[in-house]
Amino acid sequence: MKQENATVIEHHNFQGDYRILHFAAPTVGPLVQPGQFLELQVPQLGDRILRRPFSIYKADAESVSILYKPVGRGTESMRLLNVGDAVNIIGPLGNGYPELSEGKTPVLVAGGYGNAALYLKAKELPVQGVAFFGGRSALDILCIDEFKALGWDVRVTTNDGSLGTEGLVTDAFDPWLTEQNTDVELFVCGPNPMLKAMGDRAIEHGFTAWLSLDENMACGVGACLTCVIKRKTADGWEWARCCKDGPIFESREIIWED
Ligand SMILES: Cc1cc2nc3c(=O)[nH]c(=O)nc-3n(C[C@H](O)[C@H](O)[C@H](O)COP(=O)(O)OP(=O)(O)OC[C@H]3O[C@@H](n4cnc5c(N)ncnc54)[C@H](O)[C@@H]3O)c2cc1C
Ligand code: FES
Repeated sequence: MKQENATVIEHHNFQGDYRILHFAAPTVGPLVQPGQFLELQVPQLGDRILRRPFSIYKADAESVSILYKPVGRGTESMRLLNVGDAVNIIGPLGNGYPELSEGKTPVLVAGGYGNAALYLKAKELPVQGVAFFGGRSALDILCIDEFKALGWDVRVTTNDGSLGTEGLVTDAFDPWLTEQNTDVELFVCGPNPMLKAMGDRAIEHGFTAWLSLDENMACGVGACLTCVIKRKTADGWEWARCCKDGPIFESREIIWED
């Protein structure tokens, strides 16, 4: 984990409300593993306001990108960032997705900005499988051409039917799963109800699912305990910090709370 004043080198609309922020980040960029995130200090909010967490969409030796959607005070203020502005970032944070297990077929499942969080994993995996992407409408289905270009078989569902099949991501995944003879391993990122739905299926059908939990975070480095969840242990449960012990957990580790 490093801290760096990263200079904005690109900032533009991507699709619908989503925007891309690309930083020169020669300190953080080379360290990034798929599924990790960074904590960004929004300059317009001043230095006493909590940082905001964002999955790392792309990274290389010189730079990092995030794909974000303005939803509140911090992310709305980020719209004001201009090329040349310096933004303090801490990263890469979190555990990242593990390696694919020997002999398994990888399956990606994502919704909204979860697609961005899975892009580096999709690029790194030694084999390509099926990618199930869901969203409210066509504008929430991100980067599908990039996943297709990497060789993924992309299946889209939208709640309003404006792209792909109408319904939830599970409406496409369930019939597909019943036809499989292969041993699948899932890499999932999206809203918690989607994560739980995929985790339940993993437990029921006996496959592994790596779920990237979306919990509110404050410090992002394991100190404040804002982001704790209950994790199963051999004799009960323990608190686990999503920012430090996660955000990625195997489905069987998580105790879901209402
Ligand atoms: C590990 C991780 C990775 C993330 N990656 C991305 C990403 O790649 N792109 C992206 O657009 N967003 C991502 N988020 C969500 C992003 O951090 C929040 O949207 C942001 O912190 C909201 O800040 P704000 O000040 O604009 O909103 P606030 O004014 O703080 O809140 C506005 C609304 O956003 C909700 N919100 C606040 N924090 C979160 C959160 N952590 N997750 C979900 N909803 C939240 C609040 O409940 C509220 O309804 C990620 C969150 C986590 C934990
Ligand atoms: S956000 Fe502070 S411990 Fe996780």
